[in-house]
Amino acid sequence: MTADPAAPILLFDSGVGGLTVLAELRKALPQAPVIYAADTAGLPYGEKTEAQIAARVAGLLGRMSERFRPRLATIACNTASTIALGMVREVLNIPIVGTVPAIKPAAAMTRSGTIGLLGTHATIRQGYVDRLEAEFAADKRLLRFGAPGLVAAAEAKLRGQAFDPGAISEAVAGLRDQPGGAEIDTVVLACTHFPLLTEELAAAFGPQVRFIDGAAGIARRIASLTQGQAFARDTADHAVFTAAPDPALAPALSRYDIEAAALL
Ligand code: DGL
Repeated sequence: MTADPAAPILLFDSGVGGLTVLAELRKALPQAPVIYAADTAGLPYGEKTEAQIAARVAGLLGRMSERFRPRLATIACNTASTIALGMVREVLNIPIVGTVPAIKPAAAMTRSGTIGLLGTHATIRQGYVDRLEAEFAADKRLLRFGAPGLVAAAEAKLRGQAFDPGAISEAVAGLRDQPGGAEIDTVVLACTHFPLLTEELAAAFGPQVRFIDGAAGIARRIASLTQGQAFARDTADHAVFTAAPDPALAPALSRYDIEAAALL
């Protein structure tokens, strides 16, 4: 398919988590125009039902793809992807890249054979995660913990606001206190918000634990699906939100070269 060089890549999350994917996308495709879209009126997805998430994600991506005509859309959110990726692919006629928990690379990295997985409550209960575990980590022990406090902490950190350090210790204890948790040497950050807290999580888990997330893999996938296409990004990109844009986010958005934010 020949795309208009100015046709954007749509990057969608419930909040600021997708910026961790945008950071990798900028490295892979610096000239790609991006529209960063966040369902801030629906945040946090992790505490919603499957039906609520599927309806919001399919509805919003449908609306945005008509309005912005993206060449490709990325669901930069594990919760939305593990629930709604198949449905969105069925209804939209552009390539859709999803975000799935990095269990496969974690299984290759672990030496102890015990992997921790931090995600939202909605993500950790998905059959999608069970299938990844069965396919790639059947001979490993995978311990899961739902950590909504980390979503709130990441949102606050990016706004330059103080956050509850208890969110970090609760996530660490949530994995470590499970049977076999002391053996964890690899932690999958299965929520795009969590790499924003890698420093805090690394300090709390200790130097023997390594972290893995899907962002670099997603950027590679986008680059491969758009190979040969021309990109023209002459101005800074913009963001769209489903709730009134929060001025406290402007400095962080600007670090990702997003200079304007509007209500969708
Ligand atoms: N960033 C989202 C994810 O990757 C979830 C945050 C939320 O609960 O909305 O799962």
